[in-house]
Amino acid sequence: MQRIKVVLGDITKQKVDAIVNAANQTLLGGGGVDGAIHKAAGPELLEECKKIGGCRTGEAKITKGYKLPAKHVIHTVGPVWTRGENNEENLLANCYNNSLELAAKHKIRSIAFPSISTGAYRFPVERAAKIAVKEINKFLEGNDSIELVLIVCFDDKTFKAYQSALKEG
Ligand code: APR
Repeated sequence: MQRIKVVLGDITKQKVDAIVNAANQTLLGGGGVDGAIHKAAGPELLEECKKIGGCRTGEAKITKGYKLPAKHVIHTVGPVWTRGENNEENLLANCYNNSLELAAKHKIRSIAFPSISTGAYRFPVERAAKIAVKEINKFLEGNDSIELVLIVCFDDKTFKAYQSALKEG
């Protein structure tokens, strides 16, 4: 059974065990999906994030979901695209792998990712989609505790990029 699904929608509405936030290193909120998740979760999310003390690019930290349908939020920080000259591809792969490792550690069975780094951080969406699908597939080959991974795309261009990355496998 296919454990990865690409959907068009709003990640804050997903009824999964955990949603992943494309945060920044401060973990103190921002715009884009970060802003949407904090808005939907309510102010307690920021309070918990303040206690974490930040997150390095490529790493992942977990909090509760508060007012979100999801029980947890896994915050990860994607790389800012600088023409692929600063290890951005590996750092983006780390975001997916570290988020999935953390999810498995917390017995999370269903998880939703946004398109990390392809908004404000300008990572080309076709390249990001291939990295995301490759990394998620690799993780799922070695781990059967996670039953569903959703990639929640917010617009049509992103949706098409992830759909074709998934088809290529
Ligand atoms: N649900 C799903 N995806 C969303 C949502 C949402 N509610 N809102 C935005 N997105 C999509 C964007 O359309 C884009 O495809 O998330 C993807 C990632 O874009 P950004 O949110 O800009 O994230 P990123 O490119 O990783 O930049 C992170 O932006 O918001 C700040 O604090 C954040 O500094 C950090 C930076």
